[in-house]
Order: sequence, then C-alpha cells, then structure tokens
Amino acid sequence: MDPRLINQLMRHAIRLAQKTPLSPSPNPRVGALLVSPVGEIIASGYHRTAGCDHAEIVVLKSAGKLSGDETLVVTLEPCCHHGKTPPCIDAIIRSGVRKVVVGCIDPNPAVQGRGILELRRAGVNVTLGIEEARCIELNAGFITRHVANRPFFSLKEAATLDGRVFAHGLRKITDVHADRLVHRWRREHDAVLVGIATVLADNPQLTVRFASRNRPQPARVILDSAARTPPSARVVTAHESRCLIAVGPRAPARRIASLEKAGASVLHCRVRRGRIDLDDLLNRLLDQNLYSIMIEGGPRVTQSFLAAGLVDRIDLLFSPRLSGICRGAKTILPLDHGPSFVTALLAELSLKTVGVDIWIGGYIPDSKFYRYLIDAPRQSASPQYRPQVADKIRETASP
Ligand SMILES: NC(=O)c1ccc[n+]([C@@H]2O[C@H](COP(=O)([O-])OP(=O)(O)OC[C@H]3O[C@@H](n4cnc5c(N)ncnc54)[C@H](OP(=O)(O)O)[C@@H]3O)[C@@H](O)[C@H]2O)c1
Ligand SMILES: [Zn+2]
Repeated sequence: MDPRLINQLMRHAIRLAQKTPLSPSPNPRVGALLVSPVGEIIASGYHRTAGCDHAEIVVLKSAGKLSGDETLVVTLEPCCHHGKTPPCIDAIIRSGVRKVVVGCIDPNPAVQGRGILELRRAGVNVTLGIEEARCIELNAGFITRHVANRPFFSLKEAATLDGRVFAHGLRKITDVHADRLVHRWRREHDAVLVGIATVLADNPQLTVRFASRNRPQPARVILDSAARTPPSARVVTAHESRCLIAVGPRAPARRIASLEKAGASVLHCRVRRGRIDLDDLLNRLLDQNLYSIMIEGGPRVTQSFLAAGLVDRIDLLFSPRLSGICRGAKTILPLDHGPSFVTALLAELSLKTVGVDIWIGGYIPDSKFYRYLIDAPRQSASPQYRPQVADKIRETASP
C-alpha cells in the first residue's frame, strides 16, 4: 500500500480515537481500521471505556468474515495480556489478518513491545511507528503515567503584555476566541487544577462551556491545605463534574464536612512546608484515574509545579493590553532559581494569534513526556530493540 495512504489511514484512526465519548481512563484512547489491500475502509472503531471491547476487537467484530488480505491499522500496540478483556493479539491472529500497522508502542510494562513480538512470531507482518508522535500525543497522560509514574501536566496561563496575570478593571485578560481555545484544551484533559487563592479571587466554575459536548467534563482539583474553599463557591456548586479538594492534615473537620455535604470530594494529602506535598498529590491523582492535568494557576501553584520539574507543556496566552500594575503584581511564570530548561526554546512550538490575543505554546524540552516523544521513533525504527525489551521483560517475569 502507498505509504502516504497508510499515513492518511492512521490519521483517520487517530480522529476516531479522539471521538471517544467517555473517558477511557485508566485505559488509553485507541482507534482502529480494517482496510482492504487497496486501502478501502471495511470497518472502523474505537475503544469506548474501561471494560468495553478494545478498538481492534470492535473492528474485527464489525467486519465479520475476512479473507486474510486485509490490513489492521491501530493507533496503539495491540495488548498481549489479560486485563478486563482477553488479549487482542489472540483475536488478531485467529482472525487471519496478516498485516498490522501500529502507531506507537504501548508503554504499559505488561505490553511494551511484547504485543508486536507475539504478532511477528505468529507470522503477522507488523509495521510500527506510523504517525508515531501524534499517536503518542493522543495518550499523553497514559504514557506519562507509565514512563514517569505521574500524570501529564500542562500549564495554561493568560497574561497582559507586561506579563501580569491580573489587570485593573478587567474580569478576564483574554478575549472570547482565546476563551474558546482554553475550553477546548480543558476538554482534552482529565482534570483542571488551581490554587485556593484563584478560587477566592475569581470564583471560577472551571467547567467546559464553549466546546464540543461529546467528551466528558474534566474533574476540577483545588489545592487548599486548610480547606478554605467556601461550600458556596461555583467550583463546588457546578455539578457537571467532580470537584476534588486537596487538603492537609490540619484542615478543620467541620469545613471538610460542609464541603463534602455540598458535593465536593476531599483528597487527604501530606503537606510540605505548609503546602500540599506535590509528590503525595500525584499519587492521589493517579488513584482517581486522573492522568492528564491542566494547571490553570495562579502563579504560586504554577511556580510550585515548575520548580518541582513536573510541567511537561506550557501554553501562554498574551493579551495586547497593559496591566497598569507594577509593584507587588503577580507575574505569569514566577521562576526564581528555575530548572535548566529556562533558557531553552519550547519544543514543537505553537505561535498563533487567537482573535486579538497571542498563543505561545510547546513542550518543555527537558520534560519526561517530551523526552519520551522524541526518543520513541529511534526505538521503533530499530527492528531488534522491541523484541529485546520484550524478552527482557519475559526473562524477569519467569520464575
Ligand atoms: N491570568 C491567569 O491565567 C490566571 C489564572 C489563575 C489565577 N490568576 C490570578 O492569580 C491570582 C491568584 O494566584 P496566587 O498565586 O495568589 O494563588 P494560587 O496559585 O491560585 O493559590 C495559591 C495557594 O494555593 C495553596 N496551595 C496549596 N498547596 C500548594 C502548593 N503546593 N503550591 C502552591 N500553592 C499551594 C496555598 O494556600 P493554602 O496555604 O491555604 O493551601 C497557596 O497560597 C488571582 O488574582 C487570580 O485572578 C490568573
Ligand atoms: Zn487490547
């Protein structure tokens, strides 16, 4: 098949995976197609949510009887282990499909190349690494959870031209087009996270209101060591999605009880220097199946995550206005003795105007996620690499 057609088909499978109406967490988003030797789509599908058929099974079931000349195109390596459903590789081998095109390796230690290896051993021709970066980005949270044992964190802030996060007489810094973009970004994450000072200053809902409704609302997470969030705050009373309040051991039981009564869930976290301990928070977020988090400020929370080296991606929106504030004003990225990345350009840079505002975004070159993203093609291109990894896993797993 023409390589350009294969790439096109993979991009189609990615779009299918993006359609997933429910959050599949803790599973990844996966899309698949079954195509004829000339590239006609015979069946297409995606994995809906944990416990439902994986994308490969959806397409094999809907295609019915096969001749064996078909190609299966799938965004993520087929699984080879028993989870809530049986291994997909068994179904693929049984179906008689002889060609499989895979977007990227599944970093789950239970798979990590073994799915590819088993298919090849069964005589299936597997091509790996088609539209690989897009397939990895599709599941940034799932990938980071497996390669760094933490969620994927992206940081979004809006600022005036002089770098302030607040301006006199303005309720919002950016205009409506930028708001729509931010709501789309929210929709692509499992949760949105802010500090208590932002809740007290702005009383935000942090829900998605201006973007496609066929994806779940992200959860809202507030860092609030003393449980100061008012039960009447809009983030608590807007019940579109879960509101999780991370509190410390000294948070008064009476405040916690009234927050829970108002519908919020409380995450009991350790504190470090009087603030929520981010290492402990990461585990609480993973426990809740929250794998990709958009940090929406304010500056103190931003600073904590940056200083801890936890941020994978930054998206800044600059308004062509001046704040009219100088002394004591909060700046957009407050870094004191920042990590080494401060002098490096963001990677995969986006530089766009959005209405009257300017969007500058990209990955932090040093971040765990970006390092995986750029390393993956080299590893996938090596025909020996994955089987070796898989053998190693098997060796360590055997008694
Ligand atoms: N332009 C924008 O994009 C944007 C976005 C958001 C906010 N803002 C503005 O930013 C201002 C608020 O920002 P801010 O910097 O004052 O506060 P913030 O970052 O919203 O909240 C900081 C508070 O969060 C709590 N916290 C708990 N654990 C923490 C941790 N590990 N690291 C940091 N904070 C932790 C602390 O209060 P406890 O000690 O009580 O736990 C801390 O004082 C508001 O004016 C808001 O309008 C602007
Ligand atoms: Zn599977």
